[in-house]
Amino acid sequence: MTKIFKFPKGFWWGSSTSAEQIEPSGNEPEAGKSKTIWNATFDDYHHRIFDGEYAQNNFYVKYKEDLQRAKDLNFNSIKLSFSWARIMPDGKSINEEGVEFYDNLLDECDKLGIVPFLELYHFDMPLWAQEMGGWTSDEVIEYFLEYAKFIFNRYGDRTPYWSAWNEPIVLVECQYWYQFHYPFEVNFQKGIKSMMNINKIHCLVTKILKDINPDYKMGIYLNITPAIPRSDSPEDLQAAKFAEMIQWRSFADPLIKGKFPQELYNHLKANGAWPEDIDIDEYNKLFEESQKLDFMGINYYTTLRVKAPEGEIDWSDKEKVLPNTHLFNDYKKEGIRMNPYRGWEVHPKSIYDMLTTLKEEYNNIPCFIAENGMGVENEDRFRNEKGFIEDDYRIDFINEHLYWVWKAIEEGSSCSGYHMWSYIDNWSWLNSYKNRYGFYELDLKTNERKPKKSASWIKGVIKNNSIEIDEEKIQL
Ligand code: BG6
Repeated sequence: MTKIFKFPKGFWWGSSTSAEQIEPSGNEPEAGKSKTIWNATFDDYHHRIFDGEYAQNNFYVKYKEDLQRAKDLNFNSIKLSFSWARIMPDGKSINEEGVEFYDNLLDECDKLGIVPFLELYHFDMPLWAQEMGGWTSDEVIEYFLEYAKFIFNRYGDRTPYWSAWNEPIVLVECQYWYQFHYPFEVNFQKGIKSMMNINKIHCLVTKILKDINPDYKMGIYLNITPAIPRSDSPEDLQAAKFAEMIQWRSFADPLIKGKFPQELYNHLKANGAWPEDIDIDEYNKLFEESQKLDFMGINYYTTLRVKAPEGEIDWSDKEKVLPNTHLFNDYKKEGIRMNPYRGWEVHPKSIYDMLTTLKEEYNNIPCFIAENGMGVENEDRFRNEKGFIEDDYRIDFINEHLYWVWKAIEEGSSCSGYHMWSYIDNWSWLNSYKNRYGFYELDLKTNERKPKKSASWIKGVIKNNSIEIDEEKIQL
C-alpha cells in the first residue's frame, strides 16, 4: 500500500545545470566568449564525443523561456554556473555582453522567485588557462581569484549560496588520471597537485567572499559516493577507506575539519607518490585557519563498489600510478540494478547512507541533494500516441531516491532540498545527447522543448511537498 511522505517546510526543490552544457548553440563560442577545453576537445578529439554533437540547448538565448519552464514545474531554486570564458575571455578583460547576460538571467530568476545557487566553475576551463597548466599552475590560480573577485563584487547579493567547485574529483581524475577530459593526461602527481590547489583556491575564494560580506554562504558540490567493499576482509575494507579518502574526503576533510586525510597522505608519501613540491603542513595550516564550509551540495548518481587491489602493487613506475590500481580496484558485483545506458548502478539507499555519514562524521553540516538523475538512451521508444515521452522509469528512480532522502531527514539529517539533474535534456561531456536526463525533452532538430510524463509528476510532488510510495517495495 502506498503512503505519503512529507518533506520539511521550505524544502529546496529544483534542478542543476551548468553553463557549458546548456548555454551554447554549437561549437563556435558566441558573443565574445573564448574557447574552452570542450571546444578544443571538439576540434581535436572529435571522436571522443558521442555522435560528434556539441552543446546546442541555446540557453544563452532561451534563458527566459527555460526559466519559465522551471517555474512551471514549481521549482523554487536552480543551480547555475557562470562561464569563466564568457565573463573574462582572456583572463583579464571583462566581456560586457557576457556580464549583461548573467545580469539579465539573475533578474529573471528574481522575477520568477527562483533562488539561484551559483557556481564559479563546472568543468569548463578556458583553453588559454589550460594551456598555462590548468589547476596545476600558480598563475592560473591568480587569474581565477581575479575572476572570483569580479563575480562576488558584481553578483554577491544575488544569492546567499555560493560555491567555487562542482565535483572537483571529477575534473582531477578525468583530466589527469583516467583520460576523459582534455588534456587527457595520465599523471597521478598532477592530479594530486590539482586536488590540493582546488582546496587552496576554495579557501582563498571563501576569504574574498566573506571579506565582501560575512553573511554570504560558501559551499561546495561533492559527489560523495559511499564506497561499498566487496567483503568484510581487512584488505577490502582498507580499499574502501582509501577509495572514499581519494574520492571525496580529500575535499570534505580539509574544508570541514581543516585537515587533509592523514592516512592517505602517509600512504602516498611512503610510496613516493606524493608530489615533492606540496608541503602538507603548509596546506593543512591554510585549511585549519580558513573559514569552514557553510553548506554542502551532494551530487549522487551511483555507487562506488571496490575491492582490494589485485597482484603486486608497483609504485616505482610513477607514470603507472592510479587510484583504481594502487589504492583499490573497481568491483563489478553480479546481479545488481544497473542503468545500462550510463553503466551506473542504481542504488537509492546509498543516498541515505551518505546523508547519515555526513550527520555522524561531519557534524551534520547543512546540506542538500544538489544533483541526482537518470540518463536514458533512445527515449523515443517511450513516446505515446500524443507525441509525449512516458518516462515512468525516471519517476520511479526519483521517487525511490526521495524516499531515502525523506528517511534520512526523519532520522535527523540536515538535508534541506533536492535538485534533479537536469530539468531539460542537456549536453553531456562525452555522451553528448545520447542519454537524456530531463523532465523536458529537447528536440535536436527543432530545438523545441516538450514536457515528458515526469514533468507533471514532479510538479505535483513539489506542490504537495511530498511523495507517495509503497514502503514494502523499497529495495535495500
Ligand atoms: C555530474 C555533473 O557529474 O553528472 C554533470 O555535474 C553531468 O555535469 C552529470 O552532466 C551526468 O553525467 P553525464 O556524464 O551522464 O552527463
